Amino acid sequence: MRSCVLLPLFAASVAYARQLTVYNGCPFTIWPAMFTDLNVGSAVPSFPNGWEAPAFSHVSFFVPDNWKAGRIWVGISHQARRNCNFNDPNPATQCADGGCNGGLVCDSHTGTGIPPTSLAEFTLSGDNGHNDFYDVSLVSGYNLPVRIDTNQGCPVAGCFVDLGPNCPAPLKGPFDSTGFPVGCKSACLIDPNPGNSTNCCTGAHSTPTTCPSSGVQFFDYFKSNCPKASAYAFDQATFNCDTQLQADYIVSFCAGPPQ
Ligand SMILES: *[C@@H]1O[C@H](CO)[C@@H](O)[C@H](O)[C@H]1NC(C)=O
Repeated sequence: MRSCVLLPLFAASVAYARQLTVYNGCPFTIWPAMFTDLNVGSAVPSFPNGWEAPAFSHVSFFVPDNWKAGRIWVGISHQARRNCNFNDPNPATQCADGGCNGGLVCDSHTGTGIPPTSLAEFTLSGDNGHNDFYDVSLVSGYNLPVRIDTNQGCPVAGCFVDLGPNCPAPLKGPFDSTGFPVGCKSACLIDPNPGNSTNCCTGAHSTPTTCPSSGVQFFDYFKSNCPKASAYAFDQATFNCDTQLQADYIVSFCAGPPQ
């Protein structure tokens, strides 16, 4: 019977309810990349996991109403205004930072970005379907200013300034071919013992109580410049938007602070 076939197909379909726009406000080409943690949810956006974004261009696509643990970041080339080299299969060298397994289109299972990368993170219809959660995370370091806006007046998240030039010396870099810093690492990324560290909130320091922000080196540099971004694992700079509003989201790179 036909209905026996149609019913499971219908149940497996995804409601692509929200529009996500990704805007490149930088005066140079970047390579946005996207990843969904499939351990958390199976619904994925209706768009490839990576694309080229010329200066001042944007794309819009639909993401599932129940998109969970999704993230967007960008790859930046080694040479100003030149390509990331996606003929290079090594994610650590194809871009100055932000490369991934898969190259231009990140692998859906292993294609997380090579840090340091500013991350725009989303969980839609979280909290049992009551709230969308989103944040800009500097936990894996910083590589470009990024801002998250909604079309429903929910709070703006982001890091609106370039943290590269004044980045503390131990964290500064990588650098492009002109010597300009195209990243600022988090203290966790250079910690010699990342499995048991106050910088990474791991091991004996894996709870909010045992991992206060005061134990994270250079926390103040990130937090004072980017108060609306999460600067370490237990930072409270996650924002929410009532799921009933069915907000659309705009992720902008190099767009500055909200007006
Ligand atoms: C982790 O580091 C703490 C000190 O910060 C130390 O007391 C503890 O023994 C370490 N644990 C392991 C498993 O290395």
